[in-house]
Amino acid sequence: MAQVSLRNITKIYPSNIQAVKNISIGIENKEFIVLVGPSGCGKSTTLRIIAGLEDATQGEVIIGDRCVNNVPAKDRDIAMVFQNYALYPHMNVYENMAFALKLRHYPKAEIDKRIKEAAEILGISRFLKRRPKELSGGERQRVAVGRAIVRKPQVFLFDEPLSNLDAKMRVQMRTELNRLHLRLQTTMVYVTHDQIEAMTLGSRIAVMKDGLIQQFDEPLKVYDDPTNKFVAGFIGSPPMNFLNGKIIKKDGKLYFDEGELQVKIQERMYGKLKNYLDKKVIFGIRPENIFDKLFASAAAPDNTIRVKCEVIEPMGSENHILLSTDENSLIAIVDAHNKPKLGEYIEMVFDMNKAYFFDNDTEKTIA
Ligand SMILES: Nc1ncnc2c1ncn2[C@@H]1O[C@H](COP(=O)(O)OP(=O)(O)OP(=O)(O)O)[C@@H](O)[C@H]1O
Ligand SMILES: [Mg+2]
Repeated sequence: MAQVSLRNITKIYPSNIQAVKNISIGIENKEFIVLVGPSGCGKSTTLRIIAGLEDATQGEVIIGDRCVNNVPAKDRDIAMVFQNYALYPHMNVYENMAFALKLRHYPKAEIDKRIKEAAEILGISRFLKRRPKELSGGERQRVAVGRAIVRKPQVFLFDEPLSNLDAKMRVQMRTELNRLHLRLQTTMVYVTHDQIEAMTLGSRIAVMKDGLIQQFDEPLKVYDDPTNKFVAGFIGSPPMNFLNGKIIKKDGKLYFDEGELQVKIQERMYGKLKNYLDKKVIFGIRPENIFDKLFASAAAPDNTIRVKCEVIEPMGSENHILLSTDENSLIAIVDAHNKPKLGEYIEMVFDMNKAYFFDNDTEKTIA
């Protein structure tokens, strides 16, 4: 059991590629942290630095209460699960799971006890004699996790462990990993580019971009109060809609003016927006906060827009409709039975209580 701290970690690869830029993050004992971000943002590099597979160019890695910068990977008491599982093909499942313990000269009986326990937890007891090639992707994934569990490490590190699985299996393994964390009560750091995995697994998530942590907080906090346009657009599916326009004043009230459409801003936001009058801003609204006027009880002329229906994507439980103005396009989530005609103009209502504004230059959240 251990807490993990990264203090001002920077990683510069040869040929001056800055993969990680001065990141600091404190992970509590028993916490399940997810590093999430687009490809190339430095997630794996950060994880590999914690594991000791990569040296930081600058900064300190603390595990428990010791700085491990000079401790080799094998002595860090960490177990890592990789995307490609990295199982030994010539060994059966039992031997794969026993391997690391044998290297450390654990007594045979203890190795056997740990493997049986882990196999039981993961539901792989009946595969112990099979080789990896005789298993499905999901089963191999469980073996890779099992090989980590038997070590009883202080910290588990996962690098995109579910990305080779099909969609259904991914959802199932996600639930199993959550359960595993509850059962093992061990610190876990998990890397993914999938924001849904991040939201559902992490007690806190660190959203990364370009080697920097953009925001580190509880999933719902990140969803409700994104720190900037990038985070707002990355967390949530389909992503938040962004419209370019400016703030204007009419009869003492503030409006967001897109050119074609105008919506009234809630008075609670006036304070934060006061320096933006007549200036360009980016307006954000999530697809789940746009409603068809026919079904919206809070419809009013000042939160209703006329937009063209371009595409309807039926999801089964709901429809995603792609709408357009002259300048912008947006996506709304509506009821599965709500099928507007393609090419026609329809009236949609914004829940202005859920509107966001971002600075046009810095893209930081204003309100
Ligand atoms: N060994 C290396 N040598 C040079 N550059 C590297 C090396 N490993 C990674 N990089 C670069 O560092 C940056 C971060 O890479 P990293 O593997 O940490 O990204 P990631 O967030 O894990 O991406 P992905 O989601 O694609 O796995 C990238 O620009 C990558 O090209
Ligand atoms: Mg990676």
